Amino acid sequence: MTRVVTTIAEVRQIVRAWRAAGQTVGLVPTMGYLHEGHQSLIERSVADNDHTVVSVFVNPTQFGPNEDLESYPRDLEHDRALVEATGADVVFHPTPAEMYYPNRRTTVHVDELGSELCGKSRPIHFDGVCLVVSKLLNIVTPDRAYFGQKDAQQLLIVRRMVRDLSFGVEIVGCPIVREADGLAKSSRNTYLSDEERAAAVVLSRSLAAGRAVLEGGERRASAVRQAVLDVLAAEPLAAPEYVEVVDTDDVNPVETVEGEALVAIAVRIGGTRLIDNFFFTPEV
Ligand code: PAJ
Repeated sequence: MTRVVTTIAEVRQIVRAWRAAGQTVGLVPTMGYLHEGHQSLIERSVADNDHTVVSVFVNPTQFGPNEDLESYPRDLEHDRALVEATGADVVFHPTPAEMYYPNRRTTVHVDELGSELCGKSRPIHFDGVCLVVSKLLNIVTPDRAYFGQKDAQQLLIVRRMVRDLSFGVEIVGCPIVREADGLAKSSRNTYLSDEERAAAVVLSRSLAAGRAVLEGGERRASAVRQAVLDVLAAEPLAAPEYVEVVDTDDVNPVETVEGEALVAIAVRIGGTRLIDNFFFTPEV
């Protein structure tokens, strides 16, 4: 039976017992409303470790003032059942008051990597992510922590933070899980009307066009971006926020694809902001 634990002290106690028995621990940080994307991370952790903790916490510090903190979908009973069916041991579900002291003064900021792509429209977002992920790593002290490539910029930033701050954890990146028509699974897909849901397939289709151009030998980022933008422009419900080709070290836009590149997009479909991406490494 999967336990739902709400206090930091209780998680520490459980993990201490596992450690005393010489067992390994995996952590899957989430904001809940779990779907097959999250499930793939949990499955991987269950396969890799003796025990898995899944955190379910809609983290207030990573939402901007006009974002969807209040309306973000929540369903703890569904989440607990999915975690149990997937074989993880513990759901860590703290309240905001348990996680954050009212007079906290510490921030965790990874310079540069968080200012491009999603950082432009969500300036405080990655500081909030780094703060909560740091806390979760300190609370659970896992051997491995699992993050989806769905949020590629987040994955690159967390990797860098862990390296810069010498967290003793291995960050494991996991592939994007998609719907049958190619739409990346996301808790925010529930915001889409039927018409918007049908239109949202344009994200993955536009990226497929960008990838085809790269696979055809094109190396100019401008040509890749244009191929993506052309597909997005054909969908009236789609309003692109960004289409970028960046390097995977510092997340800076590149003019020419020479090393590993990340092609990332954010697109508004109606009122809902969706993201998607792919990594590409040219053959040498
Ligand atoms: P959340 O959006 O709930 O996502 C939790 C994890 O699931 C992230 O690592 C995300 O990349 C991964 N994920 C989501 N959809 C996926 C998909 N379709 N395929 C593969 N992986 C997917 O990301 C967050 O929460 C938060 O920022 C968090 C890291 C928990 C910090 O609050």
